[in-house]
Amino acid sequence: MSAANLVMQSYGRCCASPAFFDDFYRHFLASSPLIREKFVDTDMSAQKQLLRQGIMNLVMHARGMPDTKLRALGESHSRQRLDIRPELYDLWLDALLLTISEHDKECDADIRQAWREVLNKGIAVIKGGY
Ligand code: HEM
Repeated sequence: MSAANLVMQSYGRCCASPAFFDDFYRHFLASSPLIREKFVDTDMSAQKQLLRQGIMNLVMHARGMPDTKLRALGESHSRQRLDIRPELYDLWLDALLLTISEHDKECDADIRQAWREVLNKGIAVIKGGY
């Protein structure tokens, strides 16, 4: 199965797991004071819904969708706006992979590798807007 399809199915299992987004933000916020600082004024329940769609955009990009949505994220996360420095995406990726490993009961080395491949491709577009 292609990386994009492995990821699509894994993401389906993750989204069906009720605490997936809570656990992701718990891990992500725990990873650095720089991350916590960025979210001090954020409504986290709204943020969890936005991220659900944001990850879907990364997955759809890997399946051949144009990068319009990811470029828009690149704009919002750019130096002039949210100012998300490129190295912070490493923490984001680590927190997400940890959360996937906890929530996708079928997660194995191949699925983790497929996620890395898919996410890195989309993250490169977002970082490109910095
Ligand atoms: C907002 C997705 C990485 C911090 C958002 C939004 C989405 C999103 C969909 C809401 C819409 C928008 O503002 O454009 C993503 C995705 C990421 C990512 C898919 C990874 C590929 C990061 C990283 C940080 C971050 C690494 C670092 C702290 C924020 C902040 C907001 C935000 C501070 C605004 C929160 C607020 O409204 O108060 N992100 N994001 N994001 N993101 Fe990200």
